[in-house]
Amino acid sequence: MKFKGRDIIDINDFSKEELLYILKTARRFDPQFVKKDRSNYTIAQGKIAAVLFFEQSTRTEQSFRSAAQKIGMGVIGFNDPQSTSIHKGETFADTIRIMDSYADVLIIRHPEPGSAKEAADIAEIPVINAGDGSNQHPTQTLLDLYTILKEQGTLDGIKVAFMGDLKYGRTVHALSIALSHFKVKQIFISHQDLAMPKEYIEILKKRGVAYEILTKIPDEFKGINFLYQTRVQKERFKDLKAFNKIKDEFILGKEFLSQLDKGVKLMHPLPRINEMASELDSHQNAIYFSQARNGLYVREALLALVLGRI
Ligand code: NCD
Repeated sequence: MKFKGRDIIDINDFSKEELLYILKTARRFDPQFVKKDRSNYTIAQGKIAAVLFFEQSTRTEQSFRSAAQKIGMGVIGFNDPQSTSIHKGETFADTIRIMDSYADVLIIRHPEPGSAKEAADIAEIPVINAGDGSNQHPTQTLLDLYTILKEQGTLDGIKVAFMGDLKYGRTVHALSIALSHFKVKQIFISHQDLAMPKEYIEILKKRGVAYEILTKIPDEFKGINFLYQTRVQKERFKDLKAFNKIKDEFILGKEFLSQLDKGVKLMHPLPRINEMASELDSHQNAIYFSQARNGLYVREALLALVLGRI
């Protein structure tokens, strides 16, 4: 298995074995599995991560910054492209070319689908896709898989339901593909205008994955191990009226506590707006905050792997 120098652009580029290897490596950084290991602090000493965020973020950007520093890296970059020479008219390609010469790994988020691939074609150093428009978000997928595995002990023989914005939700797209390597039944719950895009359903069909499509929230989540709730991606709508019409249809109020009591675990990539009531937060089966924390361990592992330091 070769990770050194590799770009992390599309979850389709990874085999089942490679996904499992990354998840196994992440445990080394997770205090739940390994007592504080000081040798982790210097794994990537002398290396620089460039964090280039052309789109807003809290978790992804900050956890990458934190992960890089926790393994000894220096961090440069920006999260407001208007503060860079892009404001003067410099192109995306030139920006990438320059950052490529200052860093050892580029971590990029951009509203345009395909932009991370474009950066990877220009840069010599590894490029990590931290979200390209409505397309993909592979490092979120790795932390989602890590969370499911940690909670369930296995990725096989389970049922995962996705809810909310399955059309524009890049976290859903990439996670669905990754889960298709395992024995997982997938259930898609959304308004028909926000349904899972056909190309993803086609992949599931081709791979013989069991799936179901629902256009209403079921009364019972019996047998479903994880519900992956998502935010309606307002910024991807061309027509705000269309957004307003469907934004409040698939929300989980405090009545969902009874389903959590019955065992379904609630995940969410965050940020949430109003699609999950805060009354759910303290339930032990509401696992979205520990899900976000897991992002740190997975990103530490990924950076160390692509730099060839572990
Ligand atoms: C998600 C994203 O940016 O795609 N957030 C994240 O990275 N944790 C989900 C979202 O913005 O709704």
